[in-house]
Amino acid sequence: LQERTLALIKPDGIPYMGKIIEAICCSGLIIKQLRMCKLSRGQAKDFYKAHMDKPFFEELANHMSSGPCVAMELVAEDAIAKWRLLLGPTSTEVARMKAPSSIRANFGTDSTRNAVHGADSYDSARRVVTYFIFI
Ligand code: CMP
Repeated sequence: LQERTLALIKPDGIPYMGKIIEAICCSGLIIKQLRMCKLSRGQAKDFYKAHMDKPFFEELANHMSSGPCVAMELVAEDAIAKWRLLLGPTSTEVARMKAPSSIRANFGTDSTRNAVHGADSYDSARRVVTYFIFI
């Protein structure tokens, strides 16, 4: 089944964007759209509103609005799962133990500054791809 998903290079991942884009291209995921953008604090909160009640929400909103991001629409068969496999577990520490070749293991710093984001479901992929087209 042909799917699309959103990949985001977070502000802390920007220094490694060349390597991250290379990893995406080598994996068989097709980059259909790509743009660089800077989220305001309000936009970052809106984007992550599912995490509004989490203790790390303010830190996350601060980080995501601290610099530019690269937003990409990725297309492939099972693109959502493929991209999540390539990016690895949320925590950089866990990623280094369990998925040492993943993007987060290689380029993440901690649980907040974990280099990249990926939509986790069909509905959120649709919402966030649309979000970044119009931002
Ligand atoms: P992401 O996959 O973009 O989705 C939610 C984000 O919240 C996550 O990556 C991290 O950047 C952040 N996050 C998740 N869990 C934690 C945590 N325990 N502490 C700090 N930040 C977190």
